[in-house]
Amino acid sequence: MKTPGAVLLLLWLGLLVGAAESGDIDLLELKYLRSQVQDFESRLQVSEKKARDFETRLKASEDYIVNLQKRDEGVKVAFSLSLEQNEWRYSGPYNTGTTLIYKQVFLNIGNAYSPSSGYFTAPVRGVYDFSFYAYGEGNSHHMGAVLRVNKQTLVMAYGHIKEGYGDADASNGVSVLLEKGDEVDVYLPANHRVHDNNSHHSTFRGHLLFQM
Ligand SMILES: *[C@@H]1O[C@H](CO)[C@@H](O)[C@H](O)[C@H]1NC(C)=O
Repeated sequence: MKTPGAVLLLLWLGLLVGAAESGDIDLLELKYLRSQVQDFESRLQVSEKKARDFETRLKASEDYIVNLQKRDEGVKVAFSLSLEQNEWRYSGPYNTGTTLIYKQVFLNIGNAYSPSSGYFTAPVRGVYDFSFYAYGEGNSHHMGAVLRVNKQTLVMAYGHIKEGYGDADASNGVSVLLEKGDEVDVYLPANHRVHDNNSHHSTFRGHLLFQM
């Protein structure tokens, strides 16, 4: 491809050739000018190739960003729960541990928490943030719960109420990389008790921070 600049130079060279034929200009000088033009053209081609490569890479970067945006807009996960809706109730103590089923659902974006099983199931691979708060009152007992991933204990919130009537509260939280389908629950260990009423002392919440 010839640029307008190169075309003008060639026109000018044509005039020079005319002049050379009429003996006004040195043939060596003409050859030199021609080589200059050829050099100019080849350097121009290199620049054009660089510009095309740059354009290709820019387009690839743009596509990548658009895909990232689409992906992050596609999956939203956030839940916020409390053990009881309106009842004043103790959970436990039981002889064996059990998954706590949080009945009050403040928020369940993405429906990854199941209010029937008490389990949260990760809809995508990513980093999730969880926290839970446990409260208890009454006579001497172990108060607390643990957060589990695929039935493996990660962190515990614990408090002990000693002799006589008292209360205790405890909380804990963790950020964790989950695979799609991993299950998270808050588990009441054997011989532990937690309490909740419609002031919502015992809560559990989680969020997808970002996909991986
Ligand atoms: C829930 O229990 C706490 C602690 O006993 C109490 O202070 C609060 O008033 C109770 N809330 C309701 C709505 O009964």
